[in-house]
Amino acid sequence: MKRIHVPALAIATALGVVLSLPLTVRAQTASDTPYTAKCAGCHGSDGTGSAMGKTMGAHDFTSAEVQQMPDAELSDIITNGKSKMPAYGKSPKADGIKGLVAYIRTLKK
Ligand code: HEC
Repeated sequence: MKRIHVPALAIATALGVVLSLPLTVRAQTASDTPYTAKCAGCHGSDGTGSAMGKTMGAHDFTSAEVQQMPDAELSDIITNGKSKMPAYGKSPKADGIKGLVAYIRTLKK
């Protein structure tokens, strides 16, 4: 049987690629939006939900389930909250919430 030697450099390179991936993804989404600051902690920067958000019951924004909800329902949940989802009616204000709904629409698969 032949032994396979994987050079340490190849492992280091592969690790480097894997580790730099999340950074690349983050750099591609708008980093200074209210979404990133206030929502990504639970909903994830890509809207699929962070581990914490999923534990709390947040749904995947890219899914048909969420995308089929009318704008009014999404704004209502953002404004008034729902179970573990905090209410954001005071900050950001109404047009900010409109922007957040518009942002959620861009996450559609
Ligand atoms: C502390 C964690 C947390 C934060 C921060 C948070 N959410 Fe949520 N969000 C949730 C949870 C949990 C639900 C699911 C509520 C339910 O249906 O019981 C939810 C639900 C929603 C929904 C309805 C669709 C769904 O997943 O059920 C929308 C839209 C939403 N959030 C938008 C936002 C926006 C926009 C922000 C930032 C302004 C935000 N959320 C911040 C936890 C969070």
